[in-house]
Amino acid sequence: MESGNLNSSNSFFELGVNRNQKIYSLKNVPVQGKIPEWLNGIFIRNGPGMLNLKNRRLNHWFDAMGALHKFEIRGGKVDYTCSFIECESYKGAIESGELKFSEFATDPCRSIFKKVQSYVFPSLPNMTDNPKIGVARIGEKWMALGETPMQLEFDPETLKKIGVSEPVPGAFAYKTTAHPHFDKEHAYNLVVKFGMISYYKIYDVANPGAKPIASIPVKRPAYIHGFGMTKKYFIITAGPLVVVPIELLFWKRPYIENHQWRPQDGASIWVIDKATGKVKAHFNTDPFFCFHHVNAWEEGNEVVMDINAYDDASIIQKYYLRELEQPNLELPFGTIRRFRLNLATKKADVQILSDACIELPRIDYNRFNTESSYQFVYGVSVHPEQRQGFYNSLVKINSQTGNNTYWFQKDCYPGEPVFYPSPNSKNDEDGILLSIVLDTGLASSFLLILDATTMQEIARAELPDPVVYGFHGEFFPQ
Ligand SMILES: [Fe+2]
Repeated sequence: MESGNLNSSNSFFELGVNRNQKIYSLKNVPVQGKIPEWLNGIFIRNGPGMLNLKNRRLNHWFDAMGALHKFEIRGGKVDYTCSFIECESYKGAIESGELKFSEFATDPCRSIFKKVQSYVFPSLPNMTDNPKIGVARIGEKWMALGETPMQLEFDPETLKKIGVSEPVPGAFAYKTTAHPHFDKEHAYNLVVKFGMISYYKIYDVANPGAKPIASIPVKRPAYIHGFGMTKKYFIITAGPLVVVPIELLFWKRPYIENHQWRPQDGASIWVIDKATGKVKAHFNTDPFFCFHHVNAWEEGNEVVMDINAYDDASIIQKYYLRELEQPNLELPFGTIRRFRLNLATKKADVQILSDACIELPRIDYNRFNTESSYQFVYGVSVHPEQRQGFYNSLVKINSQTGNNTYWFQKDCYPGEPVFYPSPNSKNDEDGILLSIVLDTGLASSFLLILDATTMQEIARAELPDPVVYGFHGEFFPQ
């Protein structure tokens, strides 16, 4: 492990956030090291690509116009291409230089509001259709996913738009997640429907038009970014970052700023039977906030749920650009917390598995999701020896022992590590991690390939330019 010094200025912010993605393609990206010969396929990552519109800078990391990055890995060679996501929000921003749709924490200016206002709710701006968070194959479609139910189908060759998919018709008054759960035949997702009575609903989005599997009425819906699933149950966790839906009707401020942190309410957890859609148990716990579920399974009378949680929702405040540009930025630490939800006693016990900071957590999902035998969580982290600044390391957490292993290199800001198993892999560390890393020393990014067992570098493919720091990707073997 190398130790690094703090940059005197926030070069991470200038290279990784406060800029617009350069769009280009490159054959035969220079590779250092040797890419495993069995690693063939495409790695696609979604995330922000444009935070400075011609006439306006957006407020928050989650507001950006999205961009897709693709690394095609074949025979040890790597080709790269990227593209902005060609949704209406992006097109409007390019044509006008202004924001035309309401993003997470930035609204169009009021004069534009009036031009595009919805006839359904006259005071509301049009919600973004910008699916900038994740990617997935749903059925035969390659989808870019966001938090509005209008998801975008793209061509995996060119990354260009094929069409939009609206698995929940009448998407205007809904929010959803970019983290569907998969089993052999289904792709489940959570939808939050706002109204006089609001609902959390679970749909099978692989079957557009199908009725919801579960529907839970709720007075103050929470901001929810993901949910959990075991073999038998769905798990909805709702921290007390909540909105009174009537406030959305008046829409006096951007979407997320209509929410209030109400710790006095605690957090709610619903365990829902997948077969019947009925609530099996409801738990009210001490308040917490989380973006990401990690894994969940059943053990006797208990449902065990690992999530990447915070004591409160202040992490959302820290992702505003005005915060990210501070040289002395200190992010709140998210940690892996294990909840044991007893379905008989309705008691919930919680334990922090490791004190390591983690975000953008990943596991070997295809083999170990819903399995109690899972051990390892991988994510981005703030290294304990370099506390200030943005996520500057990768961490591997052993969920059974709490041991942590880091990858850390001076001036480097690695993005989400995506696990892919080696051939004949025996466990959930026998494989590689793929992460796009911003190197502020070189003012460029590279695709890092790590040995997930040792967290040592195997190879890197070096791009000539920096990639804007993003969210979620997937590796698709081919
Ligand atoms: Fe996410």
